[in-house]
Amino acid sequence: MSSSTSSQGVVDRVQAFVAENRRAVLIGTAAALVAIGGVAYYASSSREPGSGDPEKGGRKKDKKKSKKRKTVKDKDGPVLEERAPKAEDVPEEDDVRLTVEQIVSMPTEERQKAAASLKARGNKAYTSRNYSTAIDLYTRAIEVTPKPDAVFYSNRAACYMNMSPPQYDKVVEDCDAAMNIDGSYVKALNRRANALEHLDRHDDALRDYTAATILGKFQDEGIAQSVERVLRKLATQKAQEIISTRAPHLPSQTFVSAYFAAFRPRPLPELPENASQGDRTLILSLEALTACDYAHSLSLVNEALEQGISWDTGRAEALNLRGTFKFLMTDIPGAKDDFLKSLELQSSLTQTWVKIASIHMEQGDPQKAFEAFDEAIKHNADDPDIYYHRGQVLFIMNEFTQAAENYTKSTELDDQFVFSHIQLAVAHYKAGNVAKSMATFRSTLKAFPQRSEPHNYYGELLLDQQRFEDAIDKFDRAIDIEGERPKPPPINALPQVNRGLAMYQWKQDISAAERACQEALKLDPQCEAAVATLAQLSLQQGKIDVAMEMFERQAELARGEVELVNALTYQLATGAQVEFMKNYPEMASQLSQMARAMM
Ligand SMILES: *[C@@H]1O[C@H](CO)[C@@H](O)[C@H](O)[C@H]1NC(C)=O
Ligand SMILES: *[C@@H]1O[C@H](CO)[C@@H](O)[C@H](O)[C@H]1NC(C)=O
Ligand SMILES: *[C@@H]1O[C@H](CO)[C@@H](O)[C@H](O)[C@H]1NC(C)=O
Repeated sequence: MSSSTSSQGVVDRVQAFVAENRRAVLIGTAAALVAIGGVAYYASSSREPGSGDPEKGGRKKDKKKSKKRKTVKDKDGPVLEERAPKAEDVPEEDDVRLTVEQIVSMPTEERQKAAASLKARGNKAYTSRNYSTAIDLYTRAIEVTPKPDAVFYSNRAACYMNMSPPQYDKVVEDCDAAMNIDGSYVKALNRRANALEHLDRHDDALRDYTAATILGKFQDEGIAQSVERVLRKLATQKAQEIISTRAPHLPSQTFVSAYFAAFRPRPLPELPENASQGDRTLILSLEALTACDYAHSLSLVNEALEQGISWDTGRAEALNLRGTFKFLMTDIPGAKDDFLKSLELQSSLTQTWVKIASIHMEQGDPQKAFEAFDEAIKHNADDPDIYYHRGQVLFIMNEFTQAAENYTKSTELDDQFVFSHIQLAVAHYKAGNVAKSMATFRSTLKAFPQRSEPHNYYGELLLDQQRFEDAIDKFDRAIDIEGERPKPPPINALPQVNRGLAMYQWKQDISAAERACQEALKLDPQCEAAVATLAQLSLQQGKIDVAMEMFERQAELARGEVELVNALTYQLATGAQVEFMKNYPEMASQLSQMARAMM
């Protein structure tokens, strides 16, 4: 629990610092893409943007014209809930249908006039919700016009959208045609996105909404919300796909070791006389655990339970351990099952009650979690682990004063557990008691000179107070201690990441921050705080390919659905931006101006 909250804390801080919200990330990406010349790269390496090649060459010199067209277009656009065309403008024509030969033989000017009139009548029919008539009129306008007009297609798409039931496939088809004629037609883009969303084609919908929001200069709140909505749907859907298909696996070594480190070590259970094969396998599993060889420990405990364990205390230990591994692999129901069976065999194993409490917290039931702590206290009121973990739960619930009381009680029972001291100091800080917090940290530093953690978390508080030099000093000390420590248990790479963040916040030294994260990854390739920070820093500098790679790694490292959705959201948002820049290379300079104005 402690490492989960602290390393997630680093991830949260970097994300909060780099971007106020997702939309800022969108803008940031756009700016970064432009600033670093990523655009040129994407433009030159991309396939034909969209499918509107014929217009492509002429787009630049059309700029003025297209601006003028835009205002005209808006008036034509059949968002007729907003504005009905004036009825007297619409000519009442007789309904003569012309053949292709007749149309072709007409002079261009006449064809233009006829098309305009058909469109006007189409708009009128649309206004009176007579969609099939409107569709017919727009279709004829499309046949008659001498020059393809995006508005005719887009208006007809609006009709298909409003029919009951709506014909989303046809909407997409017409918007495709409209976009072929005018690749930056926001209304058609938005309409197509809407239809694609209804067709559950979320990837394509995200592409279109993203383009619409950028082309609309981020001004349209409705489209911005659509981007968020589709991003959420898509990320959630992908997260669920990943979770249901990926084999259960242990989280990073760092995370697992931090989890086990949150419980005080206990002596190995004593083997019964005439121990069975399974009994001995259990002892091997617990020895692997002590040596931080978690994968081995996991397979051994499974094996031990399969072989059969001959005595109740041993079985209770084995079920506790297997449940813990299941919990770490986010199999919550499986974990609960093992813990309950373990308690049936040995209800005095307080550690299992504490873990049951974590399960209840995971399932959003703090009431039951506290009941489990009470139950644990009934069995052993002097177990310091209980108070430490109850403190953790209270901390998560922002009950800092009660949390501090519980950490204090834990340290009174056993003052050799470094995390109770650290958490006590942090709880004081969170409760607004800065002096007490600093004093607790200073005494903890003295009491645990060989531990890097007090330095690291003290540094975090100093960083929070913008005392950059002092913070970096503490991080450096933590890094030194980690460097001098005997290697096998995994290295704590957080001080490196924190040091990088401090350099970034203090001196805006982005390359120092980057180097620090890379250093952290050398120590611990699975350090998610380093991966997430590197992703955000790369995004800031327009190293989009690196950012994408890091988001992918962040998704791989993510334990639960929430973290996975978070990583995927950034990955998808960035990917949609990249695709936009491919499709609209000519938007580059506009975008950079916009981004600069907004930052
Ligand atoms: C739709 O318009 C056509 C042609 O003007 C007309 O014949 C028809 O009655 C209208 N339908 C409805 C439901 O208004
Ligand atoms: C252990 O095995 C020996 C020999 O088979 C037997 O005499 C003894 O009673 C066993 N002890 C227990 C506790 O089962
Ligand atoms: C710990 O937290 C509980 C709330 O769950 C509270 O009742 C108790 O007073 C706190 N302090 C100690 C020392 O247990």
